[in-house]
This record gives sequence, C-alpha cells and structure tokens, in this order.
Amino acid sequence: MKKSKGIFQQLVKPWLPNASRDQNEDDLERIAAQEQKLLSFGTLVASTKNFHHSRKLGEGAFGPVFKGKLPDGKVVAVKKLSHSSTQGKEFKTEAKKLARVQHRNVVNLLGYCAHGEENFLVYEYVANESLDKHLFRSDGREAFNWERRLDTITGIAKGLLYLHEKAHIRIIHRDIKAGNILLDDKWVPKIADFGMARLFPDDQTRINTRVAGANGYMSPEYLMHGSLSIKADVFSFGVVVLELISGEKNFPFTRDSDSKNLLEWAFKLFKKQRALEIMDPALASSADPQHIAMCIHMGLLCVQSDPDLRPDMGRVVMILSKKLTALEEPSRPGYPGSRYRRSRTPGASSSGTGYSGPSNSLSFGSTSSSKSATSSSSSEHTSIRSDPHGKRPM
Ligand SMILES: Nc1ncnc2c1ncn2[C@@H]1O[C@H](COP(=O)(O)OP(=O)(O)O)[C@@H](O)[C@H]1O
Ligand SMILES: [Mg+2]
Repeated sequence: MKKSKGIFQQLVKPWLPNASRDQNEDDLERIAAQEQKLLSFGTLVASTKNFHHSRKLGEGAFGPVFKGKLPDGKVVAVKKLSHSSTQGKEFKTEAKKLARVQHRNVVNLLGYCAHGEENFLVYEYVANESLDKHLFRSDGREAFNWERRLDTITGIAKGLLYLHEKAHIRIIHRDIKAGNILLDDKWVPKIADFGMARLFPDDQTRINTRVAGANGYMSPEYLMHGSLSIKADVFSFGVVVLELISGEKNFPFTRDSDSKNLLEWAFKLFKKQRALEIMDPALASSADPQHIAMCIHMGLLCVQSDPDLRPDMGRVVMILSKKLTALEEPSRPGYPGSRYRRSRTPGASSSGTGYSGPSNSLSFGSTSSSKSATSSSSSEHTSIRSDPHGKRPM
C-alpha cells in the first residue's frame, strides 16, 4: 500500500511545483523514519519542553527519564542514555531490533533517537508507578491485594518468557527488580528497561554493583563470576516473587535477626513447613493460602544457588497455571557471601504424590515429573552458555 503510494509520488514528482515536491520528499522521509521508529531530536525537545526539570520522572543508572507527548498525542517516557552505551550505527541497529520487541507485559519501545553523542529511547508511558513504590510503602498496601500480586507475578513471568524464548531476538534482561516492573492504570505489570544488556555490553554500573553485591536481585554466578544467562533473570524473578508475597525487601533485610536476607528467612521457614509465615500481613483479608504456598515454593526454586536447578520461565508459567504441580524440593538459595556450588544431583524430587508445601495439607495434584523438567532446563542453560557472544545475549 505504502509502497504503491511511494511509486505514484515518484511518477508525478517531475510535474509538481517545487514547493510541493519538497513537501513530498519531507513526507516520504517522515514515513520512512516512522517505520524505522527513528525520532528526530527536535521532536523529543518539543515533546519534553526541552527536557524541562518539571518533566523529569526520575533518574536511574542509565540516565534521566522525562515525560513527554509526541505530536500524535501519545504520552511517552524519554530515556536519555548515559554515554557508556553503544554509539552510532551500532546503537541504531540494536534500538531498531528492540523496537520490534512487543508484548503486553513489556514496556514497549516506541522509538529511538541518536543525536550527536547522545542516544535516547522512547517508551510508552506507564501510569501507575513501579512495583517497589506499591510494595514497600508503609501504609495502604492492602490495595495491592493478593489477586493483583498474583496477576503481577504471572504477568512478569509471561513477559520474561517472551523475552527469553519468544521474541525475534533472545533478550536476557540482567536487571529484573521491583523498580523495573511498572504497573499501568489497570494494574497490568510491564517489564521496563529490557535490552540494556545489549546497549551497555560492558556496563560499569552493574560491575560496581556486583562488587558491592548491594542490589539483592543478582544471582550468585553473575555476582561472583559475571556469568550471565537466562537463569540469572530467573533468580531475580524469584526474588521479586518472594518480595511480592512478603512485602519485605530481600536486601536490606531486618525482619528476622537470624537471617541475612529474605531468601534465607523464607528457606528456613519452608524447611520447617512454616513458609506461610513470610506472608505480608496486608494480604490477610485477600490471601489464598494454597496459592501463596505454591508461589513461595516456586519462588524458592527460582532462587536456588545452582542455576541448573532453577526452572526456566516456560516451566514457571506452567507452574503458575497449575499445569505443573509436583514440585521438587528447593535446594539452598544463593546470595552474596553464600558459597556458589554446583550440585551434581538435582534437588530431591517430591514423591510425585502432589504438591506438598509449607502446609502439609496442601495438594495441587500431580501431572508431571519434576525430573524431566529439571533436565530440560539444564540443557537450555548449557546451550545458552555455549553462546559465542558470551555476556552479550543474542
Ligand atoms: N515507561 C515509563 N513510564 C513511566 N515511568 C517510567 C517509565 N520508565 C521509567 N519511568 C520512571 O522513571 C524513573 C527512572 O527510571 P529508570 O531510569 O529506569 O531508573 P530505575 O529503574 O533505576 O529506577 C523511575 O521512577 C521510573 O518509574
Ligand atoms: Mg528502570
């Protein structure tokens, strides 16, 4: 359609007066730019009132973010990337690929702009703040009830599965955390900041955080050896799940003086069949204890120290949809300072008689063998490790 219009314009061009010929060329350029999602610097300046401080939404490790309005009325978040990102052609190539990554549970990238040394990413605006702001506030957490939290867990799981396995390029997020999950006006969770691992391949900020071990979401193998795979994202997802259920931050953690962090506390209680004690008191009136117990169990599987033992996101989505119910016993969680050891044998499988979680009376039936699921996730991990691009996921 567009192509035939273009051909038509080319044909009539010689007979058009000069002014309208320029106009047509401008139009053609604009259409081409739109298709490539390349936005002009002028458009960004106009849409953010010249990056006015009143438009600033905040500033993260990758640079400041401004609220803006595009000429078509669309409200956007414009992220100005700090200088350590990829430059020039490489930035445009990566940004073009990322703009094709579209999913309901991912903050869609609407466009990008390269202006001199400066690079910008333009995202859809997500209205209802980030997960941490809902979860770690001192009051009003009841509004973020169990149904919403479960929808959030499921949405993040589906978004991550898409990034890992279904998008046209494989994307390891590398920075899954409560602050990078945005909620829209209908409480639909959306994963923000995907693709940074591609745009900041040697990210100094992450390396510093790694040395400090301070963010509480990093898997031990990434923290200690810089080894990045989809299982690092699974680990971070598991931390978010346990934070969503407990309303506690993994780190810093003060709730139990005998535990260094939320993961250790949850694991200890799980071992004593008392896992439900981690539940946020604000969930008391909306809780579905059976489902919460299953989610704690799943969260603990995701944060296991050995990446090979963690489920992949496909399996997590199946567990959440209750299609997979016989869950193996989780082994120790990994956290800074804990010894990262690769187990030779998978965690002891539950007897196959059904889910037996923190409360022994709970049962979710039995439809699948945890052993086969574990081995399939192992081979997935191995294939990613042999990725010739190493830390730069493809
Ligand atoms: N697409 C978006 N829609 C609405 N707000 C956003 C969007 N992207 C980022 N923000 C907000 O901008 C601020 C800075 O974001 P970011 O640079 O990603 O930092 P961080 O993830 O480290 O908090 C955060 O408060 C975040 O909620
Ligand atoms: Mg962010």
